[in-house]
Formats: sequence, C-alpha cells, structure tokens
Amino acid sequence: MTNKTDRIIIFDTTLRDGEQCPGATLNIDEKLVIAKQLARLGVDIIEAGFAFASPGDFEAVSKIAKIVGTENGPVICSLARAIKADIEAAAEALKPAVNARIHTFISTSDIHLEYQLRKSRAEVLAIAEEMVAYAKSFVTDVEFSPMDAARSDPEFLYQVLERTIAAGATTVNIPDTVGYTTPSEFGAIIKGIIENVPNIDQAIISVHGHNDLGLAVANFLEAVKNGARQLECTINGIGERAGNASLEELVMALHVRRQYFNPYLGRPEESQEALTNIDTRQIYKTSRLVSNLTGMLVQPNKAIVGANAFAHESGIHQDGVLKNKLTYEIMDAQLIGLTDNQIVLGKHSGRNAFRTRLKELGFELSDTELNKAFVRFKEVADKKKDISDWDLEAIVNDEIQQAPDLFRVELVQVSCGSNARPTATVTLRTPEGEELTDAAIGTGPVDAVYKAINRVVNVPNELIEFSVQSVTAGIDAIGEVTIRLRYESKVFSGHAANTDIIVASAQAYVNALNRLYASLRTQEKQEVSTQKV
Ligand code: KIV
Ligand code: ZN
Repeated sequence: MTNKTDRIIIFDTTLRDGEQCPGATLNIDEKLVIAKQLARLGVDIIEAGFAFASPGDFEAVSKIAKIVGTENGPVICSLARAIKADIEAAAEALKPAVNARIHTFISTSDIHLEYQLRKSRAEVLAIAEEMVAYAKSFVTDVEFSPMDAARSDPEFLYQVLERTIAAGATTVNIPDTVGYTTPSEFGAIIKGIIENVPNIDQAIISVHGHNDLGLAVANFLEAVKNGARQLECTINGIGERAGNASLEELVMALHVRRQYFNPYLGRPEESQEALTNIDTRQIYKTSRLVSNLTGMLVQPNKAIVGANAFAHESGIHQDGVLKNKLTYEIMDAQLIGLTDNQIVLGKHSGRNAFRTRLKELGFELSDTELNKAFVRFKEVADKKKDISDWDLEAIVNDEIQQAPDLFRVELVQVSCGSNARPTATVTLRTPEGEELTDAAIGTGPVDAVYKAINRVVNVPNELIEFSVQSVTAGIDAIGEVTIRLRYESKVFSGHAANTDIIVASAQAYVNALNRLYASLRTQEKQEVSTQKV
C-alpha cells in the first residue's frame, strides 16, 4: 500500500480511545453491538481495544475479530505499546480476523522521553524499529504511532518514521496527543513529513488528535489537504479529556465540501464520487447507539448529530427554509439518516411488521432479542398510539443494551404533588433471586426512588449526572433517562427508555448500579485469585 490512495480511510477508535473517557466503559457485548453498527456505517478499520490492557479488553478484541472481522468486513485493529508482551497479546486476540492490524506506539516528544519514558532518543528509535518488525512477524498490516508527534522535534520524528517504515509499518500515524496544535501547524507537520521522510510513499499517513482546544476536526482537514489519507476518529467525538476528532463531523465536512477537497485528492473539482466509504445514512443511528450505551450525552448544539443541528428557530430562517431549504441548510437531514418522524407502527401491528421495519432501519436482532423487543413494543404501544421510527430505535437500543442483569426492577410506585412529601416504594429482585422492598422520602419523586433503591442495593455512590430527554414530541412521548454515578474514582453509566419517566429513571439507575456491582464482583474475584497465587 502507498500513500497514493485517492480516498480517505476512516479508522474508528470509539472502542479504544473513545472508551477511555470516564464512565464510557462498555462491556464486551455492548462493544460487539457497536462494532457491528460501525461495520454497517462502513468504517474501514475498527480499533477494537487494547488487548493487553485487561482480560476483558482481550476478549472484546477477539470477539469483534471473530464476528465482525469477516472477509468483507472492516480491518480489526488492536493497540499495543512498543513492548513484546503487548504485541503478542494483540496478535493473539486478532487471530480470528480475516484482516488484522497491530497498532503499536511509543512517545517521541522530548517531554515524554524525559519525564515518562526516561529514555534517550537513540533508545526510543531502536525500540520503535524493533517492535514494528516484531509486530510485522505476526501480521502484514502494521501501524506505528510516534505518540505526542505534534510536539516532537521534526528531525527526530522524520528519523523515527523512516526507520519504522523500513521495518514494515504500512501506516504511520501522527498524533496530536494533547490537542495543542493549530490547523496550519498540523498541516505543516504533514507537509514536512512528506518532504523529509524518503520512504514515505511506502506508507499511508494517518492523523490522530484530541480536541482540547476544539481544533481536532479542523486540524485533520488541513492534514488531508497536505497528504494525510487516514483519519482516526470517534463517534460523537468521545474520548480522553475533551475527546477525539468526531467521525460524523469529518465525514460530513468531506461530503458537503467535496468540491473543495477533491483537487487535494487528485480528482476533478466537480467529481461527485464519495471521498470516504461511509454510508452517511447510518450516522444518526450510530450516534444514538454510542450515546445510549456509553451514557455520554450529545450536546444539543453538537454539529451533525445534536438535537438542534437541523432545527430552525429564528423566524427569518424558518421563512427562508420554507421557501427553499438551501437558503439556510447546507445538508439534508436525511443524509445522516434522520428520517422525518414517520409514524410507522401501532398497537395492532404484528411481529412481522415489527421485524420488517427493524430490518429496514438496519437492526439485525437475534430471535431472543427480537422477542424481548417485541414484548416491550407491545407494552409501549398500549400506552402510546403511534410508534415512530425513533420510538422503535429507543425501544430496541434499550432492550439490546447489555448492562449486567443483576438487580432487576420489579415495582416502582411514587406519591408526590404540591402538598405531598415525595415518597417512593420500590421492589427489586436481587442477583440471588430474592425480592426486596423498601421505601424512602426524597426531595422529589426521582430522589425518593433513588433513595429507596440505595436502601436495597446498599453500595454507596454519588449521582453525578441525571438527564431526561424525550424521543419524540407529544405528551405520550417515550422519555430516555441517562445517568452517571461515581463510586470511588470510577464512573458508571445507565440508560433506560419508558413512557413513564419515573420508571425509566429507576431502570437507568439500576442499570448503572448493576455495572458498578459487576465491577466490584470482578475486583473481588481478582483479589481472591491473587491471594491464591
Ligand atoms: O492520543 C494518542 O496519542 C493516542 C495514541 C496511542 C495513538 O491515543
Ligand atoms: Zn488518543
């Protein structure tokens, strides 16, 4: 492969760098659900995790490699430090993938060398070269990242890139690890690499960047203009600190402004050929899925996928859009899969109609998942006359989320009002199958429910985020509740959808507590096995 590719390769790192943000922790089945959706979205490479980091990460990479890494599926990648044991774990986990990539990295900036690695430049150069060659002994597709490249001495960077390409790296990735660079500086770094690394034509130049100054997407677009051909990004821009460059913003910028970017890729300006392989109609659905499963909400004014991204509030804008959409809209909402809120199903719709519509929406459910979702659909249809596509998505996302089923909500009852003290009674089924009921008074109905649940579960935690959003307009709309809670230094999220927001609140809280409870159990098991050793 050479960097002469005439399209942009999309490398999705939602499941690796994206999952590194506090509280976004996903379990293996949730990662698999997201990986399948990323494949439907059309990403070229899925960075499925960091196989050496934990047994859970290893299993997730391996499962995704097996199920999603098929002949026609995306390349499956695992991150690995430039350390033999990491590379071996990555290679082992990736074995089931038809197309596998090992992504190995080591820092190259002086500040990282001095304070973090405590190694000389000569040592780092030798390790990078040796470990790329080692990775190459397992797979043909090897990516190398000089971490903190954007703050590295350019001459040293050129040297490291030349040597790692010679050792077998087929992609060299240039990270702006701390999100410090500006677009023109980042573009100049890529230009410098093309001009000064003699064997650069034997590798694809990739970029990776964090959004600390809100410049990640702009930096990447400038990098594309200067020769970068792979973009490392995440859905909704989730990731460490301020996040990573957002996939949907990059893809839509390249799509909407393709006439501008075409010449940089050697195409005629007027070419209509897509610049990426992404099926843009899957963008909205993928965004919702990642937000629901990670508990990382999308801000309403977020470009492309925010709730307000296509809403026109000002009278002048509304007037213009009614006369001609192009007056104030640069892209059609349907392009990202935002259909008009179609009323598709109702209480009398049968399983076949339900299954068919889900299929049309791109959901592929197992029989068990379909049955569970159908039961939920019927419950919702009893309370809500018309069920739209968005309702269906909320129901299915709720049912297929894979929070461990430890505590289960059996009953929620509240009493509240202007002259009442909010009181809640809850019954939970414990992991041992016992039904426990407790009651509490709170400042409001949700507070009372959460206090009652805490009395049953009895794991001290701090609620740090609570949000309710309605899926569609209307008084009978489904409400989606997302919460995040903190236990010691860890954050756990929970999500649930229901026409009754108090029930959704209870369910979301129990989902988060189940994640916390499962993590405590795993920790306990690990402690016991360490003691045995
Ligand atoms: O931000 C970063 O530098 C990374 C590397 C591992 C590519 O995530
Ligand atoms: Zn990163």
